[in-house]
Amino acid sequence: MHRPGGNARAGMEQVLSTPSTIPRARHEPHEVPASEPGLASAGRTMDAFGRHIHYLRVSLTDKCNLRCVYCMPEQMVFRPSDELLSDEELFTVLRATSLLGFDKYRLTGGEPTVRPNLVGIVGEIARMPGVREITMTTNGLRLANLAVPLRQAGLQRVNVSLDSLDEQKYHRLTRWGHVGDVLAGINAAEAVGMHPVKINCVVIRGYNEDSMTDLARLTYEHDWQVRFLEVMPFADVADFQQASIVTTQEMMRYIESTVDRLVELNDGKLDGEARLYRLPGARGEIGFISPVTVPFCASCSRVRLTADGTLRLCLLKDGELDLKTPLRRGAGVDELAELMRMAIWHKPWGHDLSHGVIPQNRIMSEIGG
Ligand code: 5AD
Ligand code: SF4
Repeated sequence: MHRPGGNARAGMEQVLSTPSTIPRARHEPHEVPASEPGLASAGRTMDAFGRHIHYLRVSLTDKCNLRCVYCMPEQMVFRPSDELLSDEELFTVLRATSLLGFDKYRLTGGEPTVRPNLVGIVGEIARMPGVREITMTTNGLRLANLAVPLRQAGLQRVNVSLDSLDEQKYHRLTRWGHVGDVLAGINAAEAVGMHPVKINCVVIRGYNEDSMTDLARLTYEHDWQVRFLEVMPFADVADFQQASIVTTQEMMRYIESTVDRLVELNDGKLDGEARLYRLPGARGEIGFISPVTVPFCASCSRVRLTADGTLRLCLLKDGELDLKTPLRRGAGVDELAELMRMAIWHKPWGHDLSHGVIPQNRIMSEIGG
């Protein structure tokens, strides 16, 4: 098992103020699931709730060059490399998803930039038929060096995690990182035309609520999208995450009281998983991602591939399809595609975080954000 150990708990004691109550989320499916998979026409993969699934988040590794307190313990034990999909195995799975009509791919981790041959993997995805979008979520530490080759290989955009502009706070949250390296990465991404750069800040009570002010102000000068995320609970780090959640509502109130009012964009409609706002006169946008208080299950079009070769149907539910075993006994693209099509049909609806049901078998870095 690769569960985080007791160290995650050390962080828990550092939570300074009281947790907020998590509002009950309403997210009932509006369609009754059909009873059997009416296999979709070729190239379009549906689930039983009528959702069109065409977006794959690919975790390239469970490893990371940081140890964010809300993500993993300092002494995190990673999987042995032979438990992860090799490049060839990965490409077989990716081609199978392409056959199923997937056209959007996001590379995640752990930290995707620590995977050997990242640039080659991006190139391989870019060459698959029908691919419209290739993006990556990264902590940005290695981006300054990688932005040019990644762009040349076909990477279109990046989401960079940056939880504070304050070096000490950033360091306390990530345990090892330096803000300057991340900013260099963001600038490099912008310079090669990965537009718009999105910045993700997970807001943790007692760690970085006040960092929201400076991060929000970045949008005055830069055409970036700065997004604030509610922390989600996973497995053994769940107690810490639940004690430290700051809700979107609280975040908005904080920014409006320390910066300026937030003007809603797109009539409040979701842009991916974010609700977007702009500070008056700002160039960039501010987004809020509220997986805990406002689930976006109705518009979910994604499934996830974990680095060890399982198809995870929902970030917040433990149901998974093992692809590595069939792969290692020789299954090809067509067989994998059929297995995935059947599993996707059963993609669950909704999570039960507000009722205390927490994903148990993996933490975020093992799933891919
Ligand atoms: N809850 C919310 N976001 C998280 N991330 C990592 N762990 C969690 C969590 N428990 C974020 C990272 C990064 C993205 C991959 O997910 O900060 O922005
Ligand atoms: Fe690494 Fe991202 Fe987890 Fe931080 S949140 S430890 S950067 S995988």
